[in-house]
This record gives sequence, C-alpha cells and structure tokens, in this order.
Amino acid sequence: MKPLELNGDAVGKGNLILVNPSHPIRNEITKERLVPVSKETIQTPVFLEKQSARMLSEIISILNSGDRITPVSGFRSLTEQIEIYNTSLAENGEAFTKKYVAIPGCSEHQTGLAIDLAENSGNIDFICPDFPYTGICGDFRKLALRYGFIERYPEGREEITKISHEPWHFRYVGYPHSVIMNENDLTLEEYADFLKGFPEDGKHLCFSYENNQFEIYYLPVAAEDIIHIAVPEGIPYQVSGNNKDGIVMTLWRAQ
Ligand code: DAL
Ligand code: ZN
Repeated sequence: MKPLELNGDAVGKGNLILVNPSHPIRNEITKERLVPVSKETIQTPVFLEKQSARMLSEIISILNSGDRITPVSGFRSLTEQIEIYNTSLAENGEAFTKKYVAIPGCSEHQTGLAIDLAENSGNIDFICPDFPYTGICGDFRKLALRYGFIERYPEGREEITKISHEPWHFRYVGYPHSVIMNENDLTLEEYADFLKGFPEDGKHLCFSYENNQFEIYYLPVAAEDIIHIAVPEGIPYQVSGNNKDGIVMTLWRAQ
C-alpha cells in the first residue's frame, strides 16, 4: 500500500468539486493549468483546465466536428464573471440574469472545468448559445459522457441546480463519474450526496464499464484535518474534493 497524506485544502480541488450558490469556489485555478481550446484565429481564445481540454479535443477530433462546434466560453476569472453578471443585469434584467448567469464566486467557469459550446452559425449568443440535441451536437453529447463531460444544468432540475436549463453548458467531472451520473440520472448536487453513501469504512461503489472496473469511496475531511490514506500499489487512482465536506477516491482497476 502507498501512503497518501491530504489536508483540508483537498476538499476544494479536483474534477468533482461542486460549485453553486451554496458552495463558492475556494481556489481559482492557476494560469499554468489552463490551455487554449479554441483556434488561434478566434480573437478571444477560450481556455480550459488541461485534462478537460485534452478530453474535449479528443471528442472534437473523433467527431471531426471542429468546424461545426465552437467553444464560446471556458475559464472565466472572478473579474470576468463580475463583468458578465453586471452586463447581463443591465442588458437582460435581473430575472434572466439569475436564471443563466452564476453569482460571481459561484460559477463553474471559474474552475476551468466548464465549457459553453455552440453549433457553428453566423450568430452566436454569448450567454445562451444554441446547442441542440440533434445532429452533430447530439453526437457530441453521447461521446462526451465517455470522455468525462456532463450536461450540468438539465431541464426539470432547476430547483436543485438553481440555474435554468442550459443545453450548451458542459462540465468536466471525469470518467467514470460522468457515466455513473448519467446512468443514475443525477445532477452534481445529487451525486455529491450519493457518493457519501459509500464511505471508506463501509461498502464502496463498484462500477464496471466497458473493460474497466472502478472502486469509489468517500472520506470526510474537515478544514483543519490532515488525513492519511493507504492506496493500493500499481493502481491508477484519482482524488477529488467535493467542495463540501470531504474527498472522493476513485481507484481504476483493470478487469
Ligand atoms: N451560465 C453559468 C450558470 C455560469 O454563469 O456559470
Ligand atoms: Zn456555462
């Protein structure tokens, strides 16, 4: 077993962090972890966290959809989110803004893990781009799950997410979590609670998909805690905070 030491900071980091009005982001992503996802020809480049950018470009390349799908908005700094929020307030009013723009400090775009996409057309709306469920966008949705992306604000879940239906906003949570969430029809808010039902000292979540087998469990971590985990040797694993009260450990066991 390999020892792993984590402290309270780990709660606010990783692919599974829940960011919403009740759970503001704790650490803004650093510049070194951001890469451009848009073509150099686009005037304002769109940035994403490295791994999510890699997965996005993999999907686009498999679908050969580079000319048909446009990244509209990826990483936003706090300053940018404030600007977008205030501009929308002035142009679209409060009711619209609260539905479609996260309160600054509580936007997933500040994590570098969220991307708004548009089906390519001459006229792209920056806040509500068109990204339908059919054609190339429908193909994108199917493949996105396998590459770790979820549609973050589904229809009918507004009470839970506190944001209106946004067919264009994708959030990287990582595979296999994207697939598990989809199979169980869970938003990220619900998934964070669902995972707490699989504590380290209880029954772990075992999930098989294609030729992979995963073991997932939750561990509570308080701000002042330093915890020690024993990770099996030679097994790929990932640690992510939930941005609430603990971390999620994902062990990737080959079948
Ligand atoms: N449009 C999403 C909710 C954001 O502003 O983060
Ligand atoms: Zn968005």
